[in-house]
Amino acid sequence: MTNFTEKLGNLAVVLGSQWGDEGKGKLIDILSDDYKIVIRAAGGANAGHTIYLKDPENPEKKNKYVFHLVPSGMLNHDCICLIGNGVVLHLGTLLEEVALLNNSGFNTDGRILISDRTHLVFDYHKIIDGIQEDMKGDKKVGTTKRGIGPAYTDKVRRNGIRVHELLNFEKFTEKYMANLAMFKKMYGDFDYDTEKELAELKETTEKIKSWIVDGALFAYNALKENKNILIEGANGAMLDIDHGTYPFVTSSNPQVGGISTGTGIPGNKLTAVIGIMKAYTTRVGAGPFPTELHDDLGEQIRKTGGEFGATTGRPRRCGWFDSVVGKYSTMINGYTDINLTKLDVLSGLETLKIAVNYKELEGFPADQNLLEDVEIEYIEMPGWTEDISTIRNYEDLPENARNYVEKIEELIECKITSIGVGVERGDMIFR
Ligand code: IMP
Repeated sequence: MTNFTEKLGNLAVVLGSQWGDEGKGKLIDILSDDYKIVIRAAGGANAGHTIYLKDPENPEKKNKYVFHLVPSGMLNHDCICLIGNGVVLHLGTLLEEVALLNNSGFNTDGRILISDRTHLVFDYHKIIDGIQEDMKGDKKVGTTKRGIGPAYTDKVRRNGIRVHELLNFEKFTEKYMANLAMFKKMYGDFDYDTEKELAELKETTEKIKSWIVDGALFAYNALKENKNILIEGANGAMLDIDHGTYPFVTSSNPQVGGISTGTGIPGNKLTAVIGIMKAYTTRVGAGPFPTELHDDLGEQIRKTGGEFGATTGRPRRCGWFDSVVGKYSTMINGYTDINLTKLDVLSGLETLKIAVNYKELEGFPADQNLLEDVEIEYIEMPGWTEDISTIRNYEDLPENARNYVEKIEELIECKITSIGVGVERGDMIFR
């Protein structure tokens, strides 16, 4: 097994580099063998990290785990996971995931921490998410309806409620009720079982109060004690509120800047920034997607790659690898390494296309109208037919697969240091 900390240093970051769903969970799960602290920095239950593990009692069987809030390091029995202040947290969802872990044989005692500054998502945020989408008519973002936008809006509007406020439940209740009244004024009355939610939150507070810590201080002390930390990004760079395809984006910063604001760890401490990049492109929800395939090939990739949203089950839109996106993503995140995922999904395609340029545009445009009609310059590369899922040495990949990887590397201007070739934990080539 590779000693990752020797290569990546004591503070590595894993980021989604396209429109999310690149397969971050698998690498984080592998790296958490070496990094015993994993911190989630941004996003909320909109993210879905899928991990497949061999069933301990039946090696033929693969168990699928989908997490939305719990950091992916939880599957490693001695890893401590912190939900950072940049996350928006729905406590009910977190507790459901913890119960799922416990029922699957994972002991979570003392292994989940929550930053005291993390903002809370309530059920009313989900309702408002739906109302806001409906108000947008044909301009819908296609959100996951998990209340993410409304919770981040509260944070910025400065009426958000943070985890530490639960510890004074009376004051918390006053603020919660005032917010609810404000929303009913803004959006009209909606059915809401306030008492039920408050009762659940009271019970939950008892369960989680020992999990609450000063997140930035926890990370500071851990680094001082020479512990290794892995930071888990969520969503993807092209969904970034500042640098993504605005307004078809999420409400936080999946870009590397969100790592510092979302954890309290200064940027100059980061020792590696690993971008997770799928060997083709997918997107869920609305918004421009220049290399989207609307034909049978798109359908074939969707089926082979199992491209259905982990959070909402929606079919993901599929398309060719877009190196304009890849290069832009590398530029704004400063990747030191790329993990190219799902290369095996492309096995059997006679010809592969890569977008190399948007004609008459320099870089990645801010104006989504330009993107809608952009003319794309593609290159074509011959594919391969071999099953590559059992390959573990880069040199053993078919020549055409290596050429494809190396062309992407050249175009995005970053080294691809690991390649995913199958769904299981071990299906990874390290270079
Ligand atoms: P929201 O984050 O639920 O507000 O959704 C905003 C947009 O981001 C929608 O297009 C979602 O489909 C997309 N989105 C949010 N999180 C993810 C993710 O983890 N993977 C893929 N798409 C996401």
